[in-house]
Amino acid sequence: MKSLEAVYLDIEIKPGEGRTMNDLWDPGQYQRHSGHRTRPLLDLLARVPGLPGHPPGPRIADLGCGPGAPTRLLARRWPDAAITGYDNSPAMLAEAAAHAGPTDGGGSVDFAPADLARWTPPPASHELIVSNAALQWVPGHPERFAAWIAGLTPGGVLAFQVPGNFDAPSHTLMRDLAASPRWRDRLAGVLRDPHPVLSPAGYAEALTGPGGAADVDIWETTYLQRLTGEDPVLDWMLGTGLRPVLAALEDDPQARVDFLFAYRDALRTAYPAGPGGVTPYPFRRIFAVAVAP
Ligand SMILES: C[S@@+](CC[C@H](N)C(=O)[O-])C[C@H]1O[C@@H](n2cnc3c(N)ncnc32)[C@H](O)[C@@H]1O
Repeated sequence: MKSLEAVYLDIEIKPGEGRTMNDLWDPGQYQRHSGHRTRPLLDLLARVPGLPGHPPGPRIADLGCGPGAPTRLLARRWPDAAITGYDNSPAMLAEAAAHAGPTDGGGSVDFAPADLARWTPPPASHELIVSNAALQWVPGHPERFAAWIAGLTPGGVLAFQVPGNFDAPSHTLMRDLAASPRWRDRLAGVLRDPHPVLSPAGYAEALTGPGGAADVDIWETTYLQRLTGEDPVLDWMLGTGLRPVLAALEDDPQARVDFLFAYRDALRTAYPAGPGGVTPYPFRRIFAVAVAP
C-alpha cells in the first residue's frame, strides 16, 4: 500500500501554459464523494415546480455541470428534455462526454464549453436553468441573475445550490495556514474570496430585484455528513477547495506535501474520527428556486 506522502506527491494537477483555475479539476477525485455531493441536487430538484410546456420537451441548461453524471440526473426528472451542460473545465467536459446522447424519453443530453461569468442565453430560450455547487466559483454571479431570468420562458425556473460553509474549520484552517509566515508569500492571492456566496436573504434580494423573478423559494440545510476512511475531510477538500493551493505549489512537490501534512494535522484536531471510524463533517448549503414572471 502506498504511503500517504506518496499519494500526496502523486496528486495530478495538469501542467500547461497559461493554465487557469478552470483547468484544475480532477473529475476522479471530485467524484470520490459523489453520494454526498449528489443529494443536494436531488433536494433542489424536488422543489422545482412543473415547467412550462415546450414541445417536444423543456430546454434545460446545467451551469457548471462538472463530470456529467449530475446532468444525467436531470433527464430522469425530465426524460423528454433537451439538456445542455456547460462548464469551463476541459477535464470535466472530457469526463462528461461519456454521458452525452439521447435519453430514454426522447430527449437528449449534450455538453458545451462556457464561462458562466459571461454565459448569456437568448431571451426566452429555456424552461429551466439549473446549477449545482458551481456558482461559488463564479465571482459576481448574482449580477448574472437578470440575464439568466430573461433567458427563461414565462413561468420558467432558475434553480441553484451553493455551499454555505466558508466559515467552517475546513476552510478557515486552510486560509489560516496559507496566510501563515511559511506560506503567505507563495500563496498570496491564491485562495478565492473567503465569502464567495450570499446569505439566503441576500439571494432573495438579488433574485427579486429589477428584471428579477416573480417568486422565490430559498432555504438552507446543514447536512451532517458522516465520512469514513483515512483523513476524509482532507480527501473531500482535495476534490474542491484545495485545488488552487495544489496548483500554486505544483512545481514544488515537497512543498505541496508539507502544506498538506500541516493542513491534515489541523483537520484531525478539528474533525476527529468518532466511534466506528466515522468523521462527522457538517456541511451547510444554500438553495434557491426562482420562477420567472
Ligand atoms: C464543484 S463542481 C460541481 C459539478 C456538478 N454541478 C455537480 O453537481 O457535481 C463545480 C464545477 O463548476 C465549474 N466551474 C467553475 N467556474 C466556472 C465558470 N466560470 N464557468 C463554467 N464552469 C465553471 C467547474 O469546472 C466544476 O466542474
